Amino acid sequence: MFSSSLGKKYLMALTGIVLIGFVFVHMAGNLQILLGQESINAYAHALQTLPLPILWGSRIFLLVCVVLHAWTAYALIVENRRARPDANEVEVTKRAGLSSLKMGITGSILLSFIVFHLLHFTIRTIYPEYGELMTLVGSSDESPIHDVYSMVLAGFQHTAISLFYIVAMFLLCTHLAHGVSSVFQSLGLRSESWRPYLDLAAKGYAWVIFLGFSIVPLAVLAQKFELISFFEPTLFSAALALHQ
Ligand code: HEM
Repeated sequence: MFSSSLGKKYLMALTGIVLIGFVFVHMAGNLQILLGQESINAYAHALQTLPLPILWGSRIFLLVCVVLHAWTAYALIVENRRARPDANEVEVTKRAGLSSLKMGITGSILLSFIVFHLLHFTIRTIYPEYGELMTLVGSSDESPIHDVYSMVLAGFQHTAISLFYIVAMFLLCTHLAHGVSSVFQSLGLRSESWRPYLDLAAKGYAWVIFLGFSIVPLAVLAQKFELISFFEPTLFSAALALHQ
């Protein structure tokens, strides 16, 4: 499976399907921040306190999918370059080479985004003070829980960081717009007559993901620059004060 090109294509498509599903679930979970502090905190706490084998099992599974997806993509690009004689390239092969190069570039930037994002909000080495944000809001008993709501509000107070997230989400959008349709091609499920519909559905999905993720940093920036007031004002000023 790992050694043949076809095996690598399947593996890239199957791990791609897992990641396509993950981004949707993560985006839908994040949108609870728009419902308020209690909602997102309770949701994040429920995830963080899942039984350890489930929590770590899914984290490791996700990590393996990301690594396999990136490795198979890289190996296929290298194989295609070696197999292609430069002089007599036909137009279609050239275009395919260009789009896989674009996928390689957006994919590599997304990989760096994921590392940054984990250090920012999960491991919290970039701003260790986020780990100390505790609250009773969203807790099901009387014990304090991590205040993910305030962490995200504080995290996006930095205009540069918010803009970086929005640009990364746009790159994710372009990666998905091509990738979702390619999955069907790799699995041998894309006929030429279906292709336009699949391409359209893939673009629609990609834009939903872009808007669903970007709305959070956009709403924080809009409140920071006093365009709209979306989040609870006291918590918002506290998050702003955390970085001043
Ligand atoms: C505006 C966009 C995003 C926001 C606001 C956001 C928010 C968060 C937050 C708050 C956490 C930590 C949750 C906790 O402490 O329990 C988290 C974890 C994570 N995020 Fe995101 N995220 C965004 C985009 C993304 C994207 C695009 C990806 C992947 C392509 C991603 C992948 C992850 C992963 C892998 C984790 C670690 C999950 C774990 O703890 O096992 N995030 N995100």
